[in-house]
Amino acid sequence: MKIAVIGTGYVGLVTGTCFAETGNSVTCVDIDKAKIEKLKSGKLTIYEPGLEKLFTRNQKEGRLHFTTSLEEGIAAAQVIFLALPTPPGEDGSADLKYILGVADDLEKILKSYVVIIDKSTVPVGTAEKVHAAIAKNTAIGFDVVSNPEFLREGVAVDDFMKPDRVIIGTTSEKAKKIVNDLYVPFVRQGNPIIYMDERSAELTKYAANSFLATKITFMNEIAQLCELLGADVDMVRKGIGSDDRIGKRFLFPGIGYGGSCFPKDVQALAKSSADANYNFRILDAVMEVNEKQKMHLIPKLKAYFNNDIRGKKIALWGLAFKPNTDDIREAPALSIIRELLAAGAVVTAYDPEAMDNVKSLLADKIVFAERQYDALVDADALIIATEWSEFRTPDFTHMAALLKNKVIFDGRNLFDLVKMEELGYHYESVGRRPITQIND
Ligand SMILES: NC(=O)c1ccc[n+]([C@@H]2O[C@H](COP(=O)([O-])OP(=O)(O)OC[C@H]3O[C@@H](n4cnc5c(N)ncnc54)[C@H](O)[C@@H]3O)[C@@H](O)[C@H]2O)c1
Repeated sequence: MKIAVIGTGYVGLVTGTCFAETGNSVTCVDIDKAKIEKLKSGKLTIYEPGLEKLFTRNQKEGRLHFTTSLEEGIAAAQVIFLALPTPPGEDGSADLKYILGVADDLEKILKSYVVIIDKSTVPVGTAEKVHAAIAKNTAIGFDVVSNPEFLREGVAVDDFMKPDRVIIGTTSEKAKKIVNDLYVPFVRQGNPIIYMDERSAELTKYAANSFLATKITFMNEIAQLCELLGADVDMVRKGIGSDDRIGKRFLFPGIGYGGSCFPKDVQALAKSSADANYNFRILDAVMEVNEKQKMHLIPKLKAYFNNDIRGKKIALWGLAFKPNTDDIREAPALSIIRELLAAGAVVTAYDPEAMDNVKSLLADKIVFAERQYDALVDADALIIATEWSEFRTPDFTHMAALLKNKVIFDGRNLFDLVKMEELGYHYESVGRRPITQIND
């Protein structure tokens, strides 16, 4: 099938590449000239494990093309995916200017029947708005389908190639058949393609992300309580996770969720609810708790240094909002950096993939270390903000030689408490107590 993907970011590039991989001819469109030039020259614009191999192969075999021209991109396309940004507007609602802007442009250039598939995360009713925008001045037939995307950055290619489920929101039988044909190769193991109406599909995405953000936040609150009551959140996590109804996944406490999706999607669902005169109270609590949780380590760090961290050199491992991505949108590490700088500390950071993105944001406000251990030289303490695999079993002896103080504040609970005690580190994490306190 001939496919156009409008918006070539994290979702668009993975979507385009994976559809090319199943034999379709795909053209990805973006307004960012530099991005398109780079992709055309065979270089990836994002870090995403497993993407490069598919990207290179499909580009070489002539199934994957890039352009800045919408008209060229959609020429002869039977299907047009919208993978455009839906950032939060000032009032928290999803800003639809990118989606509706492209809809306005499409209206002028459609030549024959096409299925327009919205992959962006959008509020209920957006498919109708897109339909209305395009239908204004064209007599050409088309359908608008809601097909929310559930891929996770860091495992996006796997998620796309083997999705847990595909949600297709459409009331058009013609569009349903076309979209079904596109997705059948991805669900050969029997995972479901679930059909529903457009509105339910749009809400499904917000419900999924808000539920997951709530699950994380619930565990972060349990972790807070563990610290106050002297329980260990790892034990509680295992204790509740073995109940099938709760499940083991997404129960790890930490320094809050970030990224380009959870924060904006929870906010947008709360706003949609308010607009519908429904007070979705749990979402307000989730947002409030998560903001506080990002700062969880700061009072602990300050208390360790008698509430004065002016001039203290703090090493920071991890900048990305989660491992295996270079995405720093809403990353807890950025909130921590802001707080440390405001309190007069000096920050040296290391991240395997996200440093370039932070450099373009913070320039010379912090120091960037070339390598993981370089960040530790003469540091008064280390903060861990992202659970990259390479941080999990570091050389603690080497670290002790580099650090000024053997002090670690770990926002991702990477290390064993007993081991850290034996190694002589002052080690604080989230919802767990140092072993010496257990017999208090
Ligand atoms: N990133 C994720 O993990 C993820 C997962 C599921 C769903 N989503 C949703 O998918 C959507 C896209 O997210 P993303 O992370 O890929 O965003 P992104 O910012 O990485 O990419 C969006 C791209 O669209 C381009 N663009 C903007 N206006 C354009 C226009 N008029 N024409 C062509 N291109 C244009 C931008 O230049 C950018 O490259 C959002 O609604 C997001 O909520 C994201």
